[in-house]
Amino acid sequence: MPKIELINLQKSYGAVSIIDGLDLTMEDGEFTVFVGPSGCGKSTTLRMIAGLEAISGGEIRIDGRVVNRLEPKDRDLALVFQDYALYPHMNVAKNMSFALRLARYEKSKINSRVNEVAEMLGLTEYLNRKPAELSGGQRQRVAMGRALVRDASTFLFDEPLSNLDAKLRAQMRAELALMSRRIQKNMIYVTHDQVEAMTLGDRIVVMKSGKIMQVGSPEELYRSPANLFVAGFIGSPTMNFLKAELSEEGGQIFVTGRGFSLPLPAKCKPRLSSHNGRTVMIGLRPSSFSVGEGEGSIELPIILSEYIGAQSVLLSEMGGQKITIEVSSEAPIPSGAPMNFVVESEGIHVFDSDTEKAL
Ligand SMILES: Nc1ncnc2c1ncn2[C@@H]1O[C@H](COP(=O)(O)OP(=O)(O)OP(=O)(O)O)[C@@H](O)[C@H]1O
Ligand SMILES: [Mg+2]
Repeated sequence: MPKIELINLQKSYGAVSIIDGLDLTMEDGEFTVFVGPSGCGKSTTLRMIAGLEAISGGEIRIDGRVVNRLEPKDRDLALVFQDYALYPHMNVAKNMSFALRLARYEKSKINSRVNEVAEMLGLTEYLNRKPAELSGGQRQRVAMGRALVRDASTFLFDEPLSNLDAKLRAQMRAELALMSRRIQKNMIYVTHDQVEAMTLGDRIVVMKSGKIMQVGSPEELYRSPANLFVAGFIGSPTMNFLKAELSEEGGQIFVTGRGFSLPLPAKCKPRLSSHNGRTVMIGLRPSSFSVGEGEGSIELPIILSEYIGAQSVLLSEMGGQKITIEVSSEAPIPSGAPMNFVVESEGIHVFDSDTEKAL
């Protein structure tokens, strides 16, 4: 039985529809991440699952049971919010153990849970401090700890790392990934950061304007984005998009634009030959280019070269449009002189220019 099911879930404020018929199934033990730009409805969806926000239509099921009208406390969920509030008069240990004390857990069990979670979150040395004596990042970790000590069947996180600096964020992300593997609980995590989504999620739900754009594993989203939005949202640096025309020559399909003609892999043929002659949008990941000459290589200008260690990010131009190229580099690549590149054919994505869906 799926752990949580959303069936035609809807939310509107007055006449304004915010969530527009979401359908989604989350299996037990799965780490699901909701990702999308600000305002797309991630927090609203999470709050409806938690029972903090009334739903306007559809159904939410937990363990097969409809919970539409169930109080938050009866849903067996633990939450960590974007805006957390710690109890200012309690120290870290008391803040973290609050729910357990309320549920009358044994003292030794409370202590061992708090110590274990504090260790994981790097809070051991702060257990006796009050929230006012902590940094923003430390407070956020306490808020997370307060939920993690609980025995809930599902943990809901709304941007729990948003107040942390980059280094701590990466460290906490790794801790969270390890912990979720260890405890094997159902996790739902909301973020607008695609890197966080890609590194944490078993399954990622990409949202835009209250709608699901695609659901898949990190690899599925990266390798086979279902539409232009997902293609542009996942991956850094961002995918390049160019106008091109599909054509067939000598049994092979090509995408041809201003100053380039790239062959597509043979496996695309059954899917694309019926679109021969059509104008499409192609997507090329910056990392699909490699420096080299040979069959099908193209000469491209190097307008700007940014050396960032093992990689160089190059600004170039193709089909009359600026593009980004990312190549591994032992030494800085000079800008000015053009260079030859080979485009990996597996990395060429083709989209319908009208529907924006992958072809
Ligand atoms: N109480 C409310 N009344 C009217 N509109 C609301 C209300 N709460 C949220 N909204 C709107 O619903 C939309 C979705 O908001 P939500 O907070 O779910 O976005 P989000 O994806 O979590 O964004 P962020 O990444 O910025 O946190 C937004 O356009 C927001 O303005
Ligand atoms: Mg939000």
